Amino acid sequence: MARPRFWWQVFTAALHSHSNRQFYDRISPIYDRVFVKHRKHAKKMTEIMRTAYAGRECTTRVLDLGCGTGMLSRMLSADGFDVTGLDISIKSLQVMRRSDKRIEAIQGDASHLPFTDDAFQVVVSLGSWRHFSEPEHVLAELNRLLGKNGFFIAGYFPPAIGGVVHLVNGFWSRLLIRIYHFLTGKLGFEDHADSLLEERTTILARKYFKQVDTVDSGEKWHLIVAIDPCTSLINTVSSE
Ligand SMILES: C[S@@+](CC[C@H](N)C(=O)[O-])C[C@H]1O[C@@H](n2cnc3c(N)ncnc32)[C@H](O)[C@@H]1O
Repeated sequence: MARPRFWWQVFTAALHSHSNRQFYDRISPIYDRVFVKHRKHAKKMTEIMRTAYAGRECTTRVLDLGCGTGMLSRMLSADGFDVTGLDISIKSLQVMRRSDKRIEAIQGDASHLPFTDDAFQVVVSLGSWRHFSEPEHVLAELNRLLGKNGFFIAGYFPPAIGGVVHLVNGFWSRLLIRIYHFLTGKLGFEDHADSLLEERTTILARKYFKQVDTVDSGEKWHLIVAIDPCTSLINTVSSE
């Protein structure tokens, strides 16, 4: 459990920030000590990757989308994957680079990925999906980046206000999340966490990947594991 002092810092950072980038920049020095609940999901993702790519002789290029301070990137890098972490928060990337120089760090927005077609074999994304304003566009981009047999694993979609206050289904929760979305929108944040985010993302992933499964992370929430992008969709999306 993080100390109250850290939670106070998170609260004041939220009040003084006007975008996700500013918020995550501000809390980057304490992020790893405050947000620890998704560690279990990161471990499960690493385990899935280890099994899927066991015995491979060539290096596997992995993009960690919304890598933050690099908890998952570090685990994958330690496992021998060639990891590139992309995040909108430059200060979070600096924290990541200080802890593992092998990880390439790129500042950017998930909606405009600065990579060539087929640049990666795997894209992972942990806890960041809730912040993407155009998730379908991001999936279309992943389709472009991932080569044949591409692998996409996304996870940690807790219906929780600020990733912390967990909601149950029901009228009051729905009302609370609406108020939260309204206020965070007014402050300039993107945070689309609600009880349907996991389901919505799974349905969208089915449109862009040939095989999509959900995997239990040993917690209440799941990981979405998708294999082999439907490349024909790129044309459909871009011509719409
Ligand atoms: C909850 S944190 C998760 C960080 C990391 N994946 C982890 O598990 O510790 C969400 C991250 O998404 C990043 N982010 C938010 N919107 C983004 C965007 N549009 N493009 C890239 N990164 C974004 C934030 O800067 C933040 O580092």
